[in-house]
Amino acid sequence: MATRTRTRASTRTTSSKRSPPSKRGVSGEANRNPSRDDSAFSWGKNGGGALFGAALAGAAFGLAANFGRKLLTQGMSAASGDWDEVLATEHDMTMAIFDKMLATDSTQTFKRKMLLMKLTHALDKHAHEEEMVVYPALREANEAHDADLLEGEHGYVKTFIYELNQIGTDAPNWLEKVREFRALVHKHAHMEEEEVFPRFKQSLSEEQNAKITSLVNRDGFWQA
Ligand SMILES: [Fe+2]
Ligand SMILES: [Fe+2]
Repeated sequence: MATRTRTRASTRTTSSKRSPPSKRGVSGEANRNPSRDDSAFSWGKNGGGALFGAALAGAAFGLAANFGRKLLTQGMSAASGDWDEVLATEHDMTMAIFDKMLATDSTQTFKRKMLLMKLTHALDKHAHEEEMVVYPALREANEAHDADLLEGEHGYVKTFIYELNQIGTDAPNWLEKVREFRALVHKHAHMEEEEVFPRFKQSLSEEQNAKITSLVNRDGFWQA
């Protein structure tokens, strides 16, 4: 990729039987025998239970779909190799979103909003993996200076996202702000990929390296 300096193999249902409000009350339907309750939450013959079942099935399907999406998303990253390669691939994906943002004009406000949401999610997931796994591991290996510097820059990443949300997608300086933001992320990613991560990886045993890869993949799965 052009931005990198090295190559990497890289429903409430309304019952028709419902009485008007004036006919309802203590002696009305509200006081009926609970055994005749046609609540959507009962398992009666009127299908209310079926409604509840359908809601449960819907929720289960939603959860399964979300799980599948997570598997697909993180599976794509995990397939690319060790933790440093997963993170470098995410850097590339982030830069590609920046490039799409820079190719928009001020009339494309919806597209800009969608891309900014996508960028925010990608950066959140990525930062979480680094801040919950890699940077702590760096500190454990007496690399606290670099870990603190890099984590501090993540704060400015969030500041750019805040500012872009504040100025609005039709602001005259939107592209300029995105360009500055991209430059910061590029410099940050370059330092990680070319200096900090290779040096740190070199100091790791095969077992330690595999453990960090597993932890990054697990964190990324839940953030996906
Ligand atoms: Fe980072
Ligand atoms: Fe990174």
